[in-house]
Amino acid sequence: PSKKSFSTNILDWYDLHARSLPWRSPPGVRPDPYHVWLSEIMLQQTTVATVGPYFEKFLKAWPTVHHMASAPLDDILTAWAGLGYYARARNLHKCAVVVSRDFGGVFPDDLPSLLSLPGIGPYTAAAIAAIAFDRSSTVVDGNIERIISRLYRINTPLPAAKKEITKKAAALTPEKRAGDYAQALMDIGAVICTPRRPNCGTCPAAHACAAFAKGDMEKYPVKAPK
Ligand code: ADE
Repeated sequence: PSKKSFSTNILDWYDLHARSLPWRSPPGVRPDPYHVWLSEIMLQQTTVATVGPYFEKFLKAWPTVHHMASAPLDDILTAWAGLGYYARARNLHKCAVVVSRDFGGVFPDDLPSLLSLPGIGPYTAAAIAAIAFDRSSTVVDGNIERIISRLYRINTPLPAAKKEITKKAAALTPEKRAGDYAQALMDIGAVICTPRRPNCGTCPAAHACAAFAKGDMEKYPVKAPK
């Protein structure tokens, strides 16, 4: 598919069917970068359903990055209990300190600066740049890997296919509304383009999907034998 037709279909679908999640802002309103950062760190290894209440609890306890930076690490670790992977909570606090102290409490909007922050890797930097700052960065998580693998029937197994998938994903990323576009793909990956028995009947990209045309969606993404 062309970038224009694909991204238009995806964004039109999002305007009608976006999941309403606690860290998302109403249509047309830029979300607070602090909220985007906090949610993306929590969502790294934890499901949307689990993260919801934690996200609300953290914002109540620490409404701004300055509040979080001033908090004792132990309070953050205690509030984090249940989310797992405690290195994330330690980095969360470290990152809050750096943004509060070195960036005046303002999250940077470019990939290199975001990548320099504790706990922020390529995926999270791209997600924050797109969602919080409307930068045209390409976000590739596991759901989006699955969508792109099926769209093009990529037969190279993961993880070797990662480069090819990222390249194809980048060629489809729109200049405008890249944050909505990324979140639309996350939603489609979560509710339509599922690992088993995908719901292609409701997919806005089915007409452009090579795997759907062949009927072998579940073969993708191909994984290397363990
Ligand atoms: N998983 C990671 N980030 C997400 C987001 N912004 N919306 C939905 N699922 C996500």
